[in-house]
This record gives sequence, C-alpha cells and structure tokens, in this order.
Amino acid sequence: MEIQLLGKRTLVTGANSGIGKAIALALAAAGSDVALNYVVNPQAAQEIAERIQGQGVRALQLKADVSDPQAVSAMFAKVEQSWGGVDLLVNNAGIDGKRALSWEVDLAAWRKVLEVNLFGAFYCAREALKGMVTRKSGVVLNISSVHERIPWHGYSAYATAKAGLSMLTKTLAQEAASHGVRVLALAPGAVKTPISQSVWSDPQALSDLLTKIPYGRMGDPDEIARMVVTLLSDAASYVTGTTVFVDGGMTLYPSFEHGG
Ligand code: BGC
Repeated sequence: MEIQLLGKRTLVTGANSGIGKAIALALAAAGSDVALNYVVNPQAAQEIAERIQGQGVRALQLKADVSDPQAVSAMFAKVEQSWGGVDLLVNNAGIDGKRALSWEVDLAAWRKVLEVNLFGAFYCAREALKGMVTRKSGVVLNISSVHERIPWHGYSAYATAKAGLSMLTKTLAQEAASHGVRVLALAPGAVKTPISQSVWSDPQALSDLLTKIPYGRMGDPDEIARMVVTLLSDAASYVTGTTVFVDGGMTLYPSFEHGG
C-alpha cells in the first residue's frame, strides 16, 4: 500500500526547524499542501516554502506565537480564507526551556514552557477541530516526547507539559471520535535537532545519552517525519487516542537490560 496525502491541507506548527521542518517536507513529498507556522527566522520558513512548492503543492507561511490564543485564531482565519480550512493539524511547536531545579526556576520561564507546549497545542487543536467535526473528517497529531512518561530532572515544566499533552490527546480523541476525527500523539526520543544540540555536540553528554537508547544512536528527524505521514494517512485509519513512541527504545528502561 502506498502512503500518500494527496489533496490534503496540513498545518504544521513550529515548522521552520528541526522535527517540524522534516515533517513539513515529508508532507509535501506525500502530496499535501503545507501551511508553515513559525515564530522566528522567516528566511527559514521562506526557504522551506519554496522547497514545498517545488513538489507541486501549495505552501503558506504563517507567523504566529501559538501561546497567544488571539494570534492562533487569526492564523486559522488566514488558512480558512486562503484554503477554506485544514484537514490535518500537526502540533509540533515546542520549547525545552532552560534546565533548572523546581525550587530555583524562574516562574515566568516555567509558565512559558507550559504555554507553548501545552496551551499552544490546545489553542490550535480547538481551532482545527471546529472545522474537522463539521466536515466529519480530519486528524490532529500532537508531537509529545518520551518525557510524557519519563521524568526529566531540571525540566519539570517540559515533562509536565508533555504528560498533559498525553491526556489532552486522549480526551480530545474521545470527544472527536463520534465525529469521524482522530486525535493522537507521537512521542519522539532523542532526535538530532537544534533543540538538543548542546547535548549531541558535547562528546561526554552524547555518550551518556547513548546509554539511555537501546538502539544505540539518536534518531533522525526524517524517522519522525515518516511516522507522522503514516499516522496522518488512512494507513492509520483505526488509530486514535494513543501515543506512538518513536524513540529507539528509550522508554524500555535500558538500565534494567541486565536485570534489576
Ligand atoms: C527533548 C530532547 C531530549 C529528548 C530525550 C526530547 O523531548 O526535546 O532535548 O534529548 O527528549 O531526553
């Protein structure tokens, strides 16, 4: 079976770098129009839009901070105006935040991680779902993390946001199922992108990270993007309300490999 998304209109948040960029390009290669949301670096969005158009599909560039509900509403109004709506939404925009223990962390910084990673996904999902439930078709895919399950020292906001995203996914899936709309999540492990550069560019940090990955290497953004395309397509027509882990086994407790 060939996996394709011909004629679909997909909005990807945080689409101008890392995993989001790989997702946007893979969607275009599968035949979908792609609306690229970004917040900084418009040149990168422009370059990706040109590559998308080179695949013979449409691209739209949408600058909006997903943590601002008004900006999100305006963004969806723009897609509605240009394309008449979206069929598929990928909530990818996210920030790790700065490593800090919870009793030392700056409160505004902690809140910002929740606002982007969790509230932002919710603001976008609710806008997208309005159209999807009316049309009785559509998919919302939330990019979560292995940290929806694994606690992460120094990153309490991030892990909390991703755990929240998991329950948000299940609850939205329950609400949307009878309207023919799927809502699911994909949880990447350690993927080689700018967000984790401080780890993979430091040999000692990288070798520590690799002990946590049974597969023995970091993931490539394309390995995430391929699974995103699959989960958005009809190949996954019976998958909803769950998180698919794409993590090289990171959630398998590798420290237990040789017994407890
Ligand atoms: C984070 C990465 C980290 C990975 C595994 C991801 O969610 O964004 O920075 O390497 O989890 O810990």
